[in-house]
Amino acid sequence: MCGIVGAVGKAEVSPLLLEGLNRLAYRGYDSAGIATITQNGIDRRRAEGKLQNLVAKMANDPLPGTIGIGHTRWATHGGPTENNAHPHASDKVAVVHNGIIENYQELRDELSKHQVRFESETDTEVIVQLITHYINHGMTPIEASRKTLARLHGAFSLGIIFAGDENLICAARRGTPLAIGHGKDAMYIASDALALAPLTNQICYLSDGDFALLTAHKIEIYDDSGARVERPVRTSSLSADMIGKGEYRHFMLKEIHEQPEVLGDTINALMHPASGEVYLPEMTIDFAKINRLTITACGTAYYAGMVAKYWFEQIAKLPVELDIASEWRYRDVPVETSNAMLVISQSGETLDTLEALRLAKKNGYPSFAIINVPESTMAREADATVFTKAGPEIGVASTKAFTTQLATLAALTLHAAKLRGTITADNLRALTAHLREIPALMAEALRLEKEIKLIATDIHTARDVLYLGRGTMFPMAMEGALKLKEISYIHAEGYAAGEMKHGPIALIDEDVPVILLAPPDALLDKTLANMQEVAARGGKVLLISDSKGCTRGKRNAAWAIEMPACDPFIAPLLYALPIQLLAYHIAVLKGTDVDQPRNLAKAVTVE
Ligand code: F6R
Repeated sequence: MCGIVGAVGKAEVSPLLLEGLNRLAYRGYDSAGIATITQNGIDRRRAEGKLQNLVAKMANDPLPGTIGIGHTRWATHGGPTENNAHPHASDKVAVVHNGIIENYQELRDELSKHQVRFESETDTEVIVQLITHYINHGMTPIEASRKTLARLHGAFSLGIIFAGDENLICAARRGTPLAIGHGKDAMYIASDALALAPLTNQICYLSDGDFALLTAHKIEIYDDSGARVERPVRTSSLSADMIGKGEYRHFMLKEIHEQPEVLGDTINALMHPASGEVYLPEMTIDFAKINRLTITACGTAYYAGMVAKYWFEQIAKLPVELDIASEWRYRDVPVETSNAMLVISQSGETLDTLEALRLAKKNGYPSFAIINVPESTMAREADATVFTKAGPEIGVASTKAFTTQLATLAALTLHAAKLRGTITADNLRALTAHLREIPALMAEALRLEKEIKLIATDIHTARDVLYLGRGTMFPMAMEGALKLKEISYIHAEGYAAGEMKHGPIALIDEDVPVILLAPPDALLDKTLANMQEVAARGGKVLLISDSKGCTRGKRNAAWAIEMPACDPFIAPLLYALPIQLLAYHIAVLKGTDVDQPRNLAKAVTVE
């Protein structure tokens, strides 16, 4: 949601903090700020809007100091103004915060009775004022921080520094992630180890409830019972250049083009090196024993789950209950003992998905997670985790994480089908082989980018766009519409092609382009009939199919993209590419901020 970073050492920290914030900008970009401690006390610079505004401000007005904290914000309490930007500070303490303080109003009312005056509308400022209040009543900064933490409700992580102490950062984690970097003559904190990649590869993660004291040469960590604990320090494999844009104009484009490679990595990790069969040694769920699988996730990850529902039910004959995590949590679903829970998440931190996972565990469901970020909370809490190998995804719109989720779900389906005895050995071999074709087919599909860019020039002026598909192409239509909406701000909807005549067809005219996802599967004739219904009403269709489908449907289409031929099983993975590229090029033509679309953040750690 927000990104926090902190450093204590011997060198000037402002440039390091700005660099760290740059790497965390995907978590929020409504405002940014930095605070440092010098002999003169706390000093800070804050700016509304993107990080560049803060950089420009600091170029004219640098911030000295060898200890500091920084923040990039996705606004929750209080608008995205400079006044609400972090770090929040009094004359004694400065705080950066990611997450939400649920009881902030109660604490604010209490402090107001002690004549404390608040400068912002944020929940964070109660932390500053409460610590200050306790220090004013004789506590040490560490005691005051501990006492304050004990009074906070909610999910959050914090970095705290104190006037008069140039060698202490207090850090705390309750619910949202916090990585600690061990450097040479320096210690760091960050919401994501990515931010620390240029500084150190020696990383440990605080566990939930931990409170840590960092000085330039030492770290002490205490768990939620107050006991001193050690958290393992690992060598992170994230390198500084993994996070660059390389030759690409945007992270999103780079990530679209990385798909053949990361799909290869993901699929290889799911196959036995010798036999080439699907191989999931870590999977603790016995698919032969469960009667139903519940899948919950949010956004794009939910659409991956929606594709998987088709696969699990058709191939593994496993009934799937599918729901958006924020709905499932509150739906009071009857508990079935023979059920298992699957959550899907790129970040592994999305709060609604995390809470759905926790609820499922409480209800006694065996659980497993498909996650991209190792060390994330969901990865730690699920009974079993399968990791996608997408690598860091920085563009806010999910692309490579989505297709690696699909590949993992496809492999899981085959694994489940084998255990449940619902697939013949020949069919299993054939579908596994198709899965292995994906990287090469993706590389071929990416060569269509020039054509897609041309089509984007025709479509980018539309106000509304409809996406249609049947079977697994229905969730892909929803995903296509989501991609377009979030980065181009064009209103778009995804519909089951057969459902169009029950309402949305009223929208059709020559100004509403219709994107039809129609790989040649068993439903092609029906999908093409739906295209004719659109064309007959003056609607302009972009047909996405292979040469077979295009030959049959082209005459009714205004535009066509001829995809490489593929087995219908893997079509969702392949057809993700043209919808991603189309959304990307439309957004570029519209001049939107592709990697950091308005109002969004990469990891949504609030409800
Ligand atoms: C859309 C997008 C979001 C995420 C959703 C879940 O492009 O990125 O819809 O898919 O916020 O995030 P994760 O997968 O991190 O749980």
